[in-house]
Amino acid sequence: MRRLAASMLFIVLSSGYARAADGQALFVSYGCDKCHAVSTHGITATAKSEKMRGPDLAEASPKHDAAWIVRLVTKQELLDGKKHKGSFKGSDEELGAIAEWVAGLKGN
Ligand code: HEC
Repeated sequence: MRRLAASMLFIVLSSGYARAADGQALFVSYGCDKCHAVSTHGITATAKSEKMRGPDLAEASPKHDAAWIVRLVTKQELLDGKKHKGSFKGSDEELGAIAEWVAGLKGN
């Protein structure tokens, strides 16, 4: 019984870790890093034009939760009265994982 509990705990912990790692990988593979650095995770914005870039999300994210980030990126939410510049072509699950990861940065 105790062994079962221990292995279940391991599964819960490792799937949580996998989700966090996925969020970061998806953030990069969907090109969020074109415009956004995440300085705490060694991610630098790759866009050549400074004007195109958005804020470093390691600093910006504490203000917003994952649900808000999903709405922003899908352009259902405005920021400073403007629609988000980036577009997202992946699935809801993928965006959810990215948004959770970004929201979880919270200035770490
Ligand atoms: C073409 C450039 C571009 C791409 C690509 C892009 N963004 Fe953005 N993003 C911006 C800009 C510019 C702002 C700031 C807008 C403003 O301040 O009015 C922003 C703002 C944000 C914010 C709000 C930051 C805050 O102030 O709290 C979040 C969160 C965000 N983006 C997430 C993402 C995610 C997730 C992706 C990938 C799916 C992404 N962005 C892709 C340009 C981009």
